[in-house]
Amino acid sequence: MMFKWLKRYMPRSLYGRALLILLLPVLTLQLVISISFIQRHFEGVTRQMTSTVLLELEYLTDEVAKARDDVALQVAVARIGAALELEVVMPAPPAPRDDGRLFYDLSGRAVIDALGEGLSHLRAIELIDNDQVIVWLEVPQGVMQVGFPRQRVSASNPHQLIVLIVVLGALLTFISSVFLRNQLRPIKRMSAAATAFGKGRTVPFSPTGAIEVRAAGMAFIDMRARIERQTQQRTLMLSGVSHDLRTPLTRLKLGLSMLDAEEAAPLEGDVDEMQRLIDGFLDFVRGDAGDDLEAVDIVDLVTEVVADFGRSGQAVTLRDVHGTEALDGPVQVRPMAIRRAMQNLVGNGLRYGRAVEVRLMIGERSLRITVEDDGPGIAPENRDEALRPFTRLDPSRNQDRGSGVGLGLAIVADIARAHGGMLRLGESAPLGGLKADLVLAR
Ligand SMILES: Nc1ncnc2c1ncn2[C@@H]1O[C@H](COP(=O)(O)OP(=O)(O)OP(=O)(O)O)[C@@H](O)[C@H]1O
Ligand SMILES: [Mg+2]
Repeated sequence: MMFKWLKRYMPRSLYGRALLILLLPVLTLQLVISISFIQRHFEGVTRQMTSTVLLELEYLTDEVAKARDDVALQVAVARIGAALELEVVMPAPPAPRDDGRLFYDLSGRAVIDALGEGLSHLRAIELIDNDQVIVWLEVPQGVMQVGFPRQRVSASNPHQLIVLIVVLGALLTFISSVFLRNQLRPIKRMSAAATAFGKGRTVPFSPTGAIEVRAAGMAFIDMRARIERQTQQRTLMLSGVSHDLRTPLTRLKLGLSMLDAEEAAPLEGDVDEMQRLIDGFLDFVRGDAGDDLEAVDIVDLVTEVVADFGRSGQAVTLRDVHGTEALDGPVQVRPMAIRRAMQNLVGNGLRYGRAVEVRLMIGERSLRITVEDDGPGIAPENRDEALRPFTRLDPSRNQDRGSGVGLGLAIVADIARAHGGMLRLGESAPLGGLKADLVLAR
């Protein structure tokens, strides 16, 4: 596009853009008015007014020319000067070489032009300080200097109109910016509510503002309610199913214990497996419905989880806590969920590797908990797959470690999403195994 470069100079916020849309026509209007109207109007007025003064000056020069001697001359000068309110000096002080005016004196040029055309015996004109006009005229007796107020030849200062327009423009801009701000506030509030919901927080929000904005707000509330309802239903249904399966399983186990031990052993193994699956299922379901947001000291929480593993003799170390200076007090998270997510990640690391390292990075807008191990890791092409529920990769390597349900990483990913974040898998540089980044929004 031709105007692509213009985009870079466009304000980025809606407020700035709306203000620009409002201001541009006003500014253009002011510019056009100032240039065409002021110029033409004031020059016209100036010429008209000047012609009146011209007649008076012609009369003065005629009368002075008629004077026979010096006394008559002085009498004529005094009489006419007083009557017409002109300051006449005769003989005159020396005239300047060029006509003079201030450079910003717009109507001054018109005054000089009009006087120059109308006066036949003109020697020079000088405009002083915008309020005094002085002309040098040639008469038979020599040169005469005549002074009169500027108001008599040009309408009062045209700058005043410009100042007025600018002040009015500023006032209009101010008023409209106040209105604009009020119109944009509902949009900002909705955006904040949507952002919070994306991070798993439901903040109170009631739609206000113009019809369209209100409609969008209503739609957002409906959508939010539906998503919440769906999550609740899913949780209820899954936990109901899992729970109901437990009773018959327990009965089955009881029945098996009555049988011959040798025959029952493989069956008991199957039942145990089913039990584990159901427990995993329940865990998965509880993932994001488990607990509410709480203000917690994230450093304490992470340290605690690592210490718990350490106490049971596992090789888990907290390597690094980075960016505590970006922390100003507790952060809002679901502590149980974070605990479970870390337990899943560290548990995986211990199951598929031997040693696990944990790092905590605190940023302005996010938290990152990194769990690394020295196991075989997950090949890049299998990482997406590993995050899906019920997937166990490469069953051969899992066998001797006791097979899992395949829900661990899916639960962690769910928890990350409920915190407005994500779970990223990669390769650990220091240990060579899997690196799991649990990123959470603050
Ligand atoms: N740290 C790791 N190193 C290597 N492979 C891993 C690691 N973590 C997970 N995997 C692979 O990803 C698969 C999915 O992991 P996930 O935690 O979801 O399930 P799981 O550990 O098999 O079962 P559980 O539900 O008991 O956690 C695992 O079966 C394993 O093959
Ligand atoms: Mg696991």
